[in-house]
Amino acid sequence: MNAAVLHTIGKPPRFEQFPEPSPLEGEVVVHVRAAALKPVDRAMANGSHYASFRELPVVCGLDGAGYLEDGTRVLFAGPRRPYGSMAQRTVVSRSRCFAIPDDVDDETAAALFNPGMSAWLSLAWRAQLAPGETVLILGATGITGRLAIQIARLLGAGRVIGAGRNVHTLSALRSLGADATIRLDQSEQDLAEAFAREAGSAGYNVIIDYLWGPPTEVLLASLTRTALTPASHRIRLVQAGESAGPTISLPAAVLRSSQLEILGAGSGNMPAPEVLANTLQELLARAASGELRIDTERVALVEIESAWARDQSGRRLLVIP
Ligand SMILES: NC(=O)c1ccc[n+]([C@@H]2O[C@H](COP(=O)([O-])OP(=O)(O)OC[C@H]3O[C@@H](n4cnc5c(N)ncnc54)[C@H](OP(=O)(O)O)[C@@H]3O)[C@@H](O)[C@H]2O)c1
Repeated sequence: MNAAVLHTIGKPPRFEQFPEPSPLEGEVVVHVRAAALKPVDRAMANGSHYASFRELPVVCGLDGAGYLEDGTRVLFAGPRRPYGSMAQRTVVSRSRCFAIPDDVDDETAAALFNPGMSAWLSLAWRAQLAPGETVLILGATGITGRLAIQIARLLGAGRVIGAGRNVHTLSALRSLGADATIRLDQSEQDLAEAFAREAGSAGYNVIIDYLWGPPTEVLLASLTRTALTPASHRIRLVQAGESAGPTISLPAAVLRSSQLEILGAGSGNMPAPEVLANTLQELLARAASGELRIDTERVALVEIESAWARDQSGRRLLVIP
């Protein structure tokens, strides 16, 4: 079968033939219709992800949309290595396949799956966002950040602020539901002041962080209080991505002077399968009703090597086998 095969960590995968998968107990073969090319797929292949590939060759792609032998249309996640979603067929545990409703097409489902679930779970599950709370999305110009803005709104956030680098995309965030935006390309002092200004007197309740690195360090400096009085409210910062850097320097003072709580959102802290299934259902229902927007571009599997390094220009690439 045709597949995007990775032979060397740090190099792009190649369009090649790969052996057909055969299912083990509890697994199903999925005929893939679309697989989104996401930062995590690149990170797995360049060695920068905590779960990067250890054995090669391997087929790239963490998730996708396709159909089972009986014709059921499904989203699937976590194919058994060395199989991946960027191939004509893959193999995955039956429990990691979720039916796609009739009113959502395969490509929309594939594009939304990873960023939409991550944003929804970060807000609703990890941060336990309550209606009326103030949310800051750090890295709001990315595909996942833009979905997080929309989902925060859908979940009843009182005020939603998006911080990002790309000025053109930032200016479009209000149409997705942001009340205010913060440009990251300013001096550290101006940026810290902007974070403090947009927090207002009530402060941030929830921060979803897709950046880490220097922008997060400036944000944390702005959250550090100088008073010896108790802080008025909890701040739940959910660490979800590392577009700006894999590490930060964390001053002790920010933790002791505030009620900041730092959580992570990723494979290590997923909710129970029924919560996942319900969240996915709601996500896809919102997509079907037109309440969630995501820009996509199709790319044929045969083009995978050139697509791998391409600037996605704000669109999620969908690899079509
Ligand atoms: N934990 C999870 O389950 C999960 C799920 C989805 C995504 N993520 C992670 O979240 C991050 C963003 O994902 P995405 O889907 O939004 O990716 P994306 O669509 O490719 O967007 C990347 C974002 O990072 C920004 N960025 C890149 N380098 C930067 C820098 N040096 N300083 C500031 N901003 C920078 C980009 O800003 P510009 O717009 O200015 O280029 C853009 O907003 C990635 O690390 C991804 O792995 C995690």
